[in-house]
Amino acid sequence: MATPIIAPSILAADFANLARDVQMLNESQADWIHIDIMDGVFVPNFSMGIPVLEAIKRHARKPLDVHLMIVNPENHIAAFQKAGAETISVHVEACQNLHRTIEQIKSLGCKAGVAINPHTSVMELENIIRDVELVCVMSVNPGFGGQKLIGNTYRKIKQLRELIIEHKSSAMIEIDGGVTLQNAQELRDAGADVLVAGSFVFNAGDPADTIRKLKSLK
Ligand code: DX5
Ligand code: ZN
Repeated sequence: MATPIIAPSILAADFANLARDVQMLNESQADWIHIDIMDGVFVPNFSMGIPVLEAIKRHARKPLDVHLMIVNPENHIAAFQKAGAETISVHVEACQNLHRTIEQIKSLGCKAGVAINPHTSVMELENIIRDVELVCVMSVNPGFGGQKLIGNTYRKIKQLRELIIEHKSSAMIEIDGGVTLQNAQELRDAGADVLVAGSFVFNAGDPADTIRKLKSLK
């Protein structure tokens, strides 16, 4: 845990200047590019779909970390892999057969992640934690960027770290929503490996410098 993995969320980018913003991320210290897919059903908002993901992929030189906030994600995994996703995370609340969906993601050569909403206990992951490479802990209710981090997140990170150790899992802990330089160190200290940051990065005067500051945390 030398430095955190920084995954800026493209949801907060300027969609009319996506190539420019992706190029900024290419030249920055960002490790991954976080892509939020929303269907207006699992969450009360829409974001982007396959054609936009393909367009980002044509410019991106960093791995695409795709966060599916959609119902029935199993019907679309192959399309997201084909469009260029390196990591695909599905919500535990959206999967009838989570283990099957995780195996589907891995069989296509992607890293598999599972995401949990703020109200979902980390204990829901007890029987899947050995099978995933990433757990995306939602620190806001999914659907919108620019929200405030929910304080209970710190407790969940610590519980999840214990679960990971207990089950000898190699899963990384990703925190998604409301991450700023004010709370990032406390999230790290609680056990976070990956920090997603959307509005805090893209609304900054100097987004690349903001990424550098997040990356310089211990
Ligand atoms: C929320 C998304 C987040 C969002 C984070 O539903 O999953 O990835 O883009 O945005 P900020 O950092 O602005 O909270
Ligand atoms: Zn996300």
